[in-house]
Amino acid sequence: RPSPAAAPDRLPFSRITQEDLAFFRKILPGRAVTDPDLLESSNVDWLKSVKGSSELLLRPQTTEEVSQILKYCNSRNLAVNPQGGNTGLVGGSVPVYDEIILSTALMNNILTFDSISGILTCQAGCVLENLSLYLEDRDYIMPLDLGAKGSCHIGGNVATNAGGLRLLRYGSLRGTVLGLEVVLADGRVLDCLSTLRKDNTGYDLKQLFIGSEGTLGVITSVSILCPRKPKSVNVVFLGCETFEQLLKTFQLSRGMLGEILSAFEFLDSECMRLLNTHLKLRNPISDCPFYVVIETSGSDSTHDGEKLHNFLEKAMTSSLVTDGTVATEDSKIKALWSMRERVTEALTHDGFTYKYDISLPVERIYQLVTDMREHLGGRAKSVVGYGHVGDGNLHLNVTSPVKDPALLAAIEPFVYEWTASCNGSISAEHGLGLKKRNYIYYSKPSQAVALMGNIKAMLDPKGILNPYKTLPDDLK
Ligand code: FAD
Ligand code: MLT
Ligand code: ZN
Repeated sequence: RPSPAAAPDRLPFSRITQEDLAFFRKILPGRAVTDPDLLESSNVDWLKSVKGSSELLLRPQTTEEVSQILKYCNSRNLAVNPQGGNTGLVGGSVPVYDEIILSTALMNNILTFDSISGILTCQAGCVLENLSLYLEDRDYIMPLDLGAKGSCHIGGNVATNAGGLRLLRYGSLRGTVLGLEVVLADGRVLDCLSTLRKDNTGYDLKQLFIGSEGTLGVITSVSILCPRKPKSVNVVFLGCETFEQLLKTFQLSRGMLGEILSAFEFLDSECMRLLNTHLKLRNPISDCPFYVVIETSGSDSTHDGEKLHNFLEKAMTSSLVTDGTVATEDSKIKALWSMRERVTEALTHDGFTYKYDISLPVERIYQLVTDMREHLGGRAKSVVGYGHVGDGNLHLNVTSPVKDPALLAAIEPFVYEWTASCNGSISAEHGLGLKKRNYIYYSKPSQAVALMGNIKAMLDPKGILNPYKTLPDDLK
């Protein structure tokens, strides 16, 4: 097994020549970028934790252009890094060396929307928030929502199989994505852009590309099933004394809110401290060790309000929650949601952030935070826990004033061993990218990883698509 923390060696891909540049300038007039200042932000990830040295950024507008790019790169053995909004959190979205960056930023057209079925088809570079706004005007919503919505692209969401804040209600992209158009490494266009809810004709090939992090093909268009916009939305922000009480509150909410429960998220008091300190966000309730954000979405405000009232009364009288506030109007709903959504941003102001995105049996999720705090003692600046309780998904984050290899060595593999001992997953929703690929064996058996290697070799025999990502080094 390779040393997980070691930087991979550059693989023997070709280097870009003047002839290559001339080709790209010809097929993408004005959209083959070589200016180092313009390339700077595409070479660095959102967390500013990894940096590549690409000298070429390509900005295609059509599937045909993506196809021409990949056909050429494959024949010339040039490596390519597909990039959407560059909000990925595992170092998958930026080059490691001089891979060509293929950005979907200009592939941002909505293709069709069927207002009877709620099925949207669009190009991969549509920004998630723009799609949400488009749909809201038509009484629909996107089935996913995440803190990065203002920048991330739907193609990037699909490529990472992003989870987010609505998964509890609308399920994962593996269910809501109905079809994909993908350009394969050699330039062939795979048209699986179905808009059917049901289609059992053979293998469901689109699933291969959902969560493949740019290693198997470039997603160029997406068709997705969208839910109706709920007529009534309520958000409550509650405080709990213990994580056990928080779990009981979750159980109670599932029983009493039933089909209108659309999110159940949590953050701990350390997150609240960072929100206060770095973003000046004030705690809307009294100080507690744990906070939850519960959202209900339904079609009848009286019915939903009644259910929520009964739930809150029961939670308060059984002393599961110690304090809380309710929002029904838009601005307060947004303000309460930002207490959860902006934790990621607050962490970036606290220092260099080591991020872990773990799936566990829900009753174990906070134990990992407690154990990590004890394990690290005074070595970390902050150790915080937040995440998607409804999905059994913990975000454990550790900060330090500067990048600290000794601290990293104390966290890893401890965190992965702990996770594997509970049969958890070392990546619930962010993917493996560059940072976590060599830890894949903690969550997948060798046979499964070997089969992934076979699929990669079949679809991308020269390995030009997002090299050094997702698959472990020992498969190369
Ligand atoms: P990028 O970051 O550009 O790329 C991510 C990966 O996908 C890379 O490997 C890239 O090569 C590949 N890729 C991108 N586009 C394509 C394409 N068209 N074809 C093939 N491969 C492609 N994730 C969650 O799951 N849940 C959350 O709640 C969540 N919240 C976030 C909040 C914040 C503030 C931030 C910064 C990130 C968050 N993320 C979350 C992480 C991230 O996965 C998502 O933001 C998003 O899905 C990435 O989309 P993107 O367009 O930015 O992709
Ligand atoms: C979240 O749920 O806030 C995101 O996955 C981002 C993060 O983990 O910080
Ligand atoms: Zn998340």
